[in-house]
Amino acid sequence: MMDKIEKYELLVCQIRSLIEGETDAVAVMSNVAAAIHQTMGFWWTGFYRVIGDDCAPHSDHKVGELLLGPFQGAVACMHIPFGKGVCGTAWKQAETIIVPDVEQFPGHIACSSESKSEIVVPVFGKNKTVVAVLDIDSEKLNTFDETDRKYLEEICKMIKLSAKRSFV
Ligand code: SME
Repeated sequence: MMDKIEKYELLVCQIRSLIEGETDAVAVMSNVAAAIHQTMGFWWTGFYRVIGDDCAPHSDHKVGELLLGPFQGAVACMHIPFGKGVCGTAWKQAETIIVPDVEQFPGHIACSSESKSEIVVPVFGKNKTVVAVLDIDSEKLNTFDETDRKYLEEICKMIKLSAKRSFV
């Protein structure tokens, strides 16, 4: 049986070839979510896109929201405001957040009582702006560690979309 690192190594190669030359955001996010979900066996794997973000993420102006994107797993909340929940906080801080126990994260948005731990990784566009987040949930506590961070950040860096058919 493959260990976690071996699965991620395989996954990174698979995703690289799957999305090579592809620039449509929905198509890319759909196959990336499916590949991660199937290979790693997580409980919920999906993207939220930044919508209506015409200001810099750290300004005081209204910055839009996260809207549910392609995912694998149970139905989930559709809208997440900037700075709210794990996803909105990862967007605001523009960095990966690992939550070992969702009940200990202030403001965690519970889409399902099955979700016990979580990792959220930003996807960056031009000028280091967050254009989406990858959200992965587990039905067990303490699922995600630095290995998950390393490989999932690598995968999110591989997601590069052209200006014409991008996330907006
Ligand atoms: N738990 C997330 C919301 C999204 S669902 O887990 C799919 C959050 O707190 O942002």
